[in-house]
Amino acid sequence: MGAIRLGVNIDHVATLREVRKSRYPDIVEAMFLCERGGADQITVHLREDCRHIQDEDLDRLLLSGRLPINLEMAFVEAMVKKAKDWKPFSVTLVPERREEMTTESGLDLKVVQKKEALFKQLRQCTRVHAFIDPDPKQVKLAKDLGCDGVEFHTGPYSHAFEDALRGRNDSALKRELEKLHRASDEADRLKLEVKAGHGLTIQNVPGLLSLKGLSELNIGHAIVCRALILGLESAVREMKTVMSNS
Ligand code: PXP
Repeated sequence: MGAIRLGVNIDHVATLREVRKSRYPDIVEAMFLCERGGADQITVHLREDCRHIQDEDLDRLLLSGRLPINLEMAFVEAMVKKAKDWKPFSVTLVPERREEMTTESGLDLKVVQKKEALFKQLRQCTRVHAFIDPDPKQVKLAKDLGCDGVEFHTGPYSHAFEDALRGRNDSALKRELEKLHRASDEADRLKLEVKAGHGLTIQNVPGLLSLKGLSELNIGHAIVCRALILGLESAVREMKTVMSNS
């Protein structure tokens, strides 16, 4: 098996821009820096409410052609139409609720199954993955539908990891890991690509690396937050230099 790919989710670079409607931070510059750091792809979630990533961001990221783009999107006609125009490297279907802070659960593929014709349109233009809970039944549905792979929702794992760190509950972490192992064994057996994402950090990633067939992790919030900590000192120094030179 080859090295596990890293997709960097840069939604929150756009979040920082959108809170002020400023020109910065520039999403394409962020992509270049991710590439320099070794990212294998850029992941963006174009939400229906456009709270962070905008259509124009997709235009610019795709035009730059530097890294493959994985587009996370809701399974609705309007988004499928956009994906058909953009033809990103891959699409990950995610559930979307307007009031949620972030994607809170995996997609129930029974919903996708009801709109098979729409799924086929999407499948004809790019590789399609489904963001699902680590549930062998959902894995089987992904295979039956014709998905290229699945991305397991690791949010519950990351919460359980935090609880275990605080000495609260070790058994929940064990349970979440067992679910992820069972589901990835099944996905690998069915020859689906196995990916994982949500809530992943430098602390909790090592615990996932032995998942069978794991080929990709998609990580956003922790990397963007870490970038602030690693870069704040330089940004302050840059401002002080401007002040003292003026
Ligand atoms: N994968 C999917 C399908 C997601 O929806 C998200 C969040 O947008 C991520 C990965 C990244 O999660 P996080 O920002 O917690 O690393």
